[in-house]
Amino acid sequence: MDDDTGLGGGARLFVGRVPELAVLDGGRARAAAREPCLVVVEGEAGIGKTALVQRALADGPDGLVAVWARCDRSERDWPYSALDQWLRRLPPGTEGLTDLAALMRHASAAPLVVGQALLAVLAAVSEEAPLALVVDDAPWADEQSVAALGFVLRRLWSERVLVVMTARTGSQAYAEASDDGRSGQGWRGLSRGVARSETVRLAGLGRAEVGELARARTGAVLRETEAERLMERTGGHPLHLRTLLRQVTANELTDVSRPLQLPVSLETAIRHQLETLPGESRRLVEALAVLNTQVPLAVVGHLAGITPCPGPGTSTRHRPSHLGRRPAHYTRTAASRPATRRRLPGHHPPGAPRPPPRGSRRGSPGGSLGSPCRSRIRSGRPSRRPSRR
Ligand SMILES: Nc1ncnc2c1ncn2[C@@H]1O[C@H](COP(=O)(O)OP(=O)(O)O)[C@@H](O)[C@H]1O
Ligand SMILES: [Mg+2]
Repeated sequence: MDDDTGLGGGARLFVGRVPELAVLDGGRARAAAREPCLVVVEGEAGIGKTALVQRALADGPDGLVAVWARCDRSERDWPYSALDQWLRRLPPGTEGLTDLAALMRHASAAPLVVGQALLAVLAAVSEEAPLALVVDDAPWADEQSVAALGFVLRRLWSERVLVVMTARTGSQAYAEASDDGRSGQGWRGLSRGVARSETVRLAGLGRAEVGELARARTGAVLRETEAERLMERTGGHPLHLRTLLRQVTANELTDVSRPLQLPVSLETAIRHQLETLPGESRRLVEALAVLNTQVPLAVVGHLAGITPCPGPGTSTRHRPSHLGRRPAHYTRTAASRPATRRRLPGHHPPGAPRPPPRGSRRGSPGGSLGSPCRSRIRSGRPSRRPSRR
């Protein structure tokens, strides 16, 4: 039953994440010492939330039993669908389990009543061994499961229980949950009822881990510049890395004179996503891909040829998520388009009067770009600036 994720990922190669594992290990130790607690793991899609929790809850000398509920958008409207997954993974003979399952089959069953029965079942199971309850992709958990879990969390006292939730940032469900969290509702409000809770925010892997993955996957032992290039290309994003490493050879990784290709599946996914966007949105994304830096939104709008542009001074913190970052194809094609080039600050059609010298210009429309940025756009080359995460 341990590591019962249904993902079959227990034996996968895993690198890094030492501090994050320490937080989860701490939660695990506390649960074993009868101090129930909650750990929330947040990060963008593919950053390694599920892999981290799988790793942290793998078999150990404490005999911890881990039961998983993997939440999915398609089951969000199915009452108790998340709790139902837990129940199916608990030892079948547990006292009260059958009654609880029957209770949950009624969509109208009150979450507080279900919560009370669940608390009794969890208390019984955790007497046998410490118990880890995982809610993977919690923002997609159904409302009733969250309400029942809230009831349980407010009442856990000395049970050997660790609750772990993962949450994909950047999704609409996550954004909605942030609002709910402020009012104490939804999964975000759950930590309020728990005496001990911690949040782990996952960013990309470090250069050493990127090199380790590359060596394990391709056999290439990367030098610093080669690892740096792979870092810059993928942001240390594990899913991006693994996808890329499946399609490149050791030689391609170590030959920095040739560009690294975007993983085919990623390029196709980005292309499909872009194709579903309205024209103006697509041009905005293209302009962002060309700029690949933080500039006033008005500049992006100007470059994309969108009018009216948002007011001057409106800064965009939005940068393409790293899965969409530096889509080289778009950067090159968008930057080479005559319409984009014409709109670049500092572009002058042949024969047109030159603008006054720099100091005498006042408030160019939509703000200004630094000269490295301008020359990058003209050359169609993406930024070499390492991304900040
Ligand atoms: N630390 C890591 N070491 C090696 N591979 C990893 C690591 N973290 C994630 N991965 C791999 O990256 C992919 C995406 O990870 P996953 O945990 O599914 O992301 P998330 O749950 O955040 O969407 C999986 O193939 C996973 O095995
Ligand atoms: Mg996941």
